[in-house]
Amino acid sequence: MLSLYPSLIAADQLNLKDAISNLEKWCQGFHCDVMDNHFVPNLTWGAPTVNALDQATEKPLWVHLMVTNPLGMLKQLELKPDSLLSFHFESTRDPEEVINRIKEKKWRSSLVLSPKTTLEASFSLLHLLDQLLIMSVEPGAGGQAFISDSLKKIEHLAAKRAELNLPFTIGVDGGINQQNIASVCSAGGQELVVGTAVFGQRDRIAALEKLYKTCE
Ligand code: DX5
Ligand code: ZN
Repeated sequence: MLSLYPSLIAADQLNLKDAISNLEKWCQGFHCDVMDNHFVPNLTWGAPTVNALDQATEKPLWVHLMVTNPLGMLKQLELKPDSLLSFHFESTRDPEEVINRIKEKKWRSSLVLSPKTTLEASFSLLHLLDQLLIMSVEPGAGGQAFISDSLKKIEHLAAKRAELNLPFTIGVDGGINQQNIASVCSAGGQELVVGTAVFGQRDRIAALEKLYKTCE
């Protein structure tokens, strides 16, 4: 089943609450890109803002940590059970510890692979994960073009999951739009982030509905 998460970094930053109440009936939850101006050059929201966003919706948040200290950030987050927490392979020396801390909080654990990170890097961790997130743009900014090589990576991951008979879902983040979403779904993408493709449209609900329909 396809799940879409509008990315709040692409919304009007002075009206995030409106963006949430406008779309929450029409999506599985909201994607929050936490950037620390260190792991990536951009800077977005800290824990108090993310915790407030969590309170503003009944749907789970999908928090994407682009920070050099994921454990420090996890300690400060207060989110609903079943929130999705993504951290980058390169952001920690001990991914198992990060996964354990996420599980202790009753959240879903997701490991992120940047475009240049090989799938093989994740193989020893796949059995511990609720999601493996493939970045289809370089992390750090919304509105970039989808890297088409990501489709092969998604297909390989889906094949590996079938071979190992594991239950994790496949997430895809970056540059997904009306033109490429069908190929992302047929390659195996299940939980998808949509930023500009939704918030760049005048009618955001119609844009979301059209994205779901294209993958039916
Ligand atoms: C990129 C972010 C993405 C981004 C997606 O660093 O992780 O979540 O907000 O936005 P679009 O869909 O515009 O690429
Ligand atoms: Zn993201």
